[in-house]
Amino acid sequence: MKSELDALETEALAAIVAAESEAALRALEVRYFGKKGELTRVLRAMGGLSPEERPLVGRRANEIRAALESAVKERARALESERIARLSLDPFFDATLPAPRPAVGALHPVTLVTDHVEDVFRAMGFLLLDYYEVETDFFNFEALNIPKTHPARDMQDTFWLEDENLLRTHTSSGQVRAMKEYAPPFRAIFPGRAFRYERTDASHEHTFYQLEGLMIDAEVSVANLVHSMQTLLGAIFERDVEVRLRPGYFPFVEPGFELDIQCQVCDGKGCPVCKYSSWVELLPCGLVHPNVLRFGGVDPEKWSGWAFGLGLSRLVMMKYRVDDIRRLLGADLDFNRQFVRG
Ligand code: FA5
Repeated sequence: MKSELDALETEALAAIVAAESEAALRALEVRYFGKKGELTRVLRAMGGLSPEERPLVGRRANEIRAALESAVKERARALESERIARLSLDPFFDATLPAPRPAVGALHPVTLVTDHVEDVFRAMGFLLLDYYEVETDFFNFEALNIPKTHPARDMQDTFWLEDENLLRTHTSSGQVRAMKEYAPPFRAIFPGRAFRYERTDASHEHTFYQLEGLMIDAEVSVANLVHSMQTLLGAIFERDVEVRLRPGYFPFVEPGFELDIQCQVCDGKGCPVCKYSSWVELLPCGLVHPNVLRFGGVDPEKWSGWAFGLGLSRLVMMKYRVDDIRRLLGADLDFNRQFVRG
C-alpha cells in the first residue's frame, strides 16, 4: 500500500507540474482529490489494513495530500502569471476597463408589486395574513356558499388531491378562515398563489397570484370598497388608467362586481392579452354574502363586509406591460433582469 502511495505521489506531482492550462489543472484536482479521486480511493481501501499499518499509511496519505495541494497552488500561480503576461501582449487588452460586475440577485416583478400593494393596504390599517395553498373543500367552496352541487364549481377547474383536499383555486379560501381567527371589526389582505387546471394562454396560467382583501365592520358600503380599490390602483400605476365597474356573479358576494382595467399592453387597441376586447379582468369584488358571514361565525344582523380578489399576476402584467403571463414563471433570466433596480 505504501509503495502504491509513493507511485501515486510521483505520478501526480509530474502531472501537476506539466499541466498546461488552468482548466487542465482543475481536472487534475478532481482526478486526485475529487470524491471519486485516486487519493480518496486509496484512503477508502485503508479499511482492510492491519491496526499497526493503518496510522502509518494514514500519515503518509496526509503528507501526500499536503504536497500535492501545495504543488497545485504553485502551478496555479505560475499559470496565472503566464496568462497575464500573454494578455499584456494583446494590443486590444485594456487594463483600465472596469472589471465585470458580480452577478447580483434581485426581486421578482411579482414580489415587487406584492410588496407595493401590501404597503398600500398596511398604511390603511389592514392586517397581512397568510393562508394555505392546500385547502379543504369546505374553505375553498362550501363556506363560500358553493355547495357540492352548485354550478359555480365549474367556473374554477380544480386540481384535486388524492385525500380529497385541493390546491386552492382562489385566495378567497382565506375569507372564512380569517373570520374564524379575528373578531369583527377587522380588515385584512392575504396574498398568495392560486391554482387552476386550465389551458394556459397569454393571460391564463395554471399557477398564478391573487391578493384577497376583506373588511368586516358595522356598516361597510360599495362606495367604501370602490374607494379602497381606487387608492390601490392609483398607488400602483402612478398614472391615470381607465377602469370600468360592471355587475359580476360570485356566490359569496351580493351584490358582486367585476372591475376591469383597460389593457395596458395594447392601450386598449386589442391584443392576445385582452383577447382583442380592450379590457382585462383584474379585480372582482362585492359585499360579503350573509351565508359566508355565518360560516365565519359573524352575525350578519350586526356586521357586514366587503371583499375583493385582485388578480396579482395580471396586475404585474398591466403595470410593466408584460405581453404574456407565462413569462412570469418562465425562469427566463433575460426577462427577470429587466426588473433589477439601480
Ligand atoms: C375569483 O377568483 C374570486 N375569488 C374573486 C372574488 C373575491 C370575487 C372576492 C368577489 C369577492 P376570478 O375567477 O374571476 O374570481 O379570478 C379573480 C382574478 O384572478 C381574475 O380577475 C384574474 O385577474 C385572475 N385570474 C383568474 N384566473 C386566472 C388564471 N388562470 N391566470 C391568471 N390570472 C387569473
